[in-house]
Amino acid sequence: MPAYNIVDHEYDVVVVGAGGAGLRATFGMVQHGLKTACITKVFPTRSHTVAAQGGVGAALGNMAEDNWVWHMYDTVKGADWLGDQDAIEYMCREAIPAVHELEHYGVPFSRTPEGKIYQRPFGGHMRNFGEAPVQRACAAADRTGHAILHTLYQQSLKHKAEFFVEYFAIDLMMDESGCRGVVAIDMATGTIHRFKGHTTVMATGGYGRAYFSCTSAHTCTGDGNAMVARAGLPLQDMEFVQFHPTGVYGAGVLITEGARGEGGYLTNSHGERFMERYAPTAKDLASRDVVSRAMTMEIREGHGIGPEKDHILLHLEHLGAEVLHQRLPGITETAKVFAGVDATKAPIPVLPTVHYNMGGIPTNYMAEAINPQPGRPDNVIPGLMAIGEAASVSVHGANRLGTNSLLDLVVFGRAAALRAKDLIKKGMAHRPLAKDAADLALARLDRIRNANGSMTTAQIRKNMQRTMQNDAAVFRTSKTLKEGCDKMAQIAGSLADLKVVDRSLIFNTDLIEALELENLMACALSTIFGGEARKESRGAHAQEDFPNRDDENWMKHTLAWVGADWKVKLDYRPVHTYTLTNDVKYIPPKARVY
Ligand code: FUM
Repeated sequence: MPAYNIVDHEYDVVVVGAGGAGLRATFGMVQHGLKTACITKVFPTRSHTVAAQGGVGAALGNMAEDNWVWHMYDTVKGADWLGDQDAIEYMCREAIPAVHELEHYGVPFSRTPEGKIYQRPFGGHMRNFGEAPVQRACAAADRTGHAILHTLYQQSLKHKAEFFVEYFAIDLMMDESGCRGVVAIDMATGTIHRFKGHTTVMATGGYGRAYFSCTSAHTCTGDGNAMVARAGLPLQDMEFVQFHPTGVYGAGVLITEGARGEGGYLTNSHGERFMERYAPTAKDLASRDVVSRAMTMEIREGHGIGPEKDHILLHLEHLGAEVLHQRLPGITETAKVFAGVDATKAPIPVLPTVHYNMGGIPTNYMAEAINPQPGRPDNVIPGLMAIGEAASVSVHGANRLGTNSLLDLVVFGRAAALRAKDLIKKGMAHRPLAKDAADLALARLDRIRNANGSMTTAQIRKNMQRTMQNDAAVFRTSKTLKEGCDKMAQIAGSLADLKVVDRSLIFNTDLIEALELENLMACALSTIFGGEARKESRGAHAQEDFPNRDDENWMKHTLAWVGADWKVKLDYRPVHTYTLTNDVKYIPPKARVY
């Protein structure tokens, strides 16, 4: 092993990632007296949570009657009965105190005339078990994620959390007892750091960048998921990739669903409000999988807009400049910059765009990571937790409702801190690490840094992104999925021919992008192989050769292991069809009503 300069650290908890989930967990840990390090590859307030727009879901009932049980029902139904109902109950019930807590921490929510938190309608959120849309999304204009992220960072500073900024986590340190911590590189200096923790929390976000067009930041490269996969552990439900109905055509930038919540609507080339046909009750506020599929159907049938008939229009102009200025200032600017449209006067061209990964590291509702064993599907991995988009709790099942992501971050970030408080006793001693604990991570770093093939990271990444975009799209068929698996296996194989030009250790972005590409590859492979195997349609997985949901055979979580040879092995694990308390009963699958 070549000599790298190694620095050792000891913490009670090591959190990887400083988005909403990572920050909520970090300062929660510190609040409970746990010595905590937060490692992040970008400055905390640059994390992707900053881009979340429309709101955080909670049945506060500020604008009209609401109930957390209705929120739970909508979430179970939106998840197309693949969500774990114990975790969903926990999230929807805890949503109310969690949002009040955010308010007290200082999140500048928009207000009603009486001074309560303003709430807007959002896709799939209904009153009284699907009767009519309800105002449940607690909003800070259309910059809710921005407001929450900055507040959580301020709280973290107030609680004196320790940050390691622009440190890139390479791999987990595992031994027979479980997870022992993480190996990271300080990108500015190239120094290697071994962070030892009684608990390591993966809060690394999603992997939208496995696709060509997505609303995700360039940093969304599935780093935590891939670290877990390289540790020989499974990823769960990776085939479920959410397309947001309204990415700006050509740019992919998000136009919040809150725009439709405020009264915006979609039209096709005939000026028809086509959602009335596809979802007569919820219309433009049906859940995202439904709206994205309807838009794709319209385009396929030749009712798209423009010379290529390849997009749809989102109308906001009827709302008036004052409402747009007050409630939707961010997306009004986005429309101007990315589509050249003045939204007060003209519709915005939009297209379904990859937005969220429902799958990730399997966990229980206390954020503990799971490695199923025969007869023990919920077997916990000591020392490892996962939260936020990196995790599959699974509260989103096969399809996430808008606003449930910001909610997931704060509820399960907090849950991780509560669980760690119970697991880690004050002053608990650390066992020494094996001398070679960082060797696997360093061997990988060294292999990539010295890669001397003929293909650049950009070339391989583009091949992967194009294939995923074409073959694991809004609609999938047995043929596209099979071809996609074959192509992806080949593209993953081409990593053996990778060329990294910069061999230095000082802010080597060539190296970091290559490490991220390997991470994306593990995520992309588990996505497309999981999709190919699932012979039904459910939530975001619309398989045209198997158009119906098949609860008898497929109401189960997919588990995917990605080997060092990039081969994917699949197995399955039962969905939790029980609730956490007796306050609400199991919600059984029934006919879809939109
Ligand atoms: O449309 C949006 O504002 C996105 C929200 C979400 O994904 O939860």
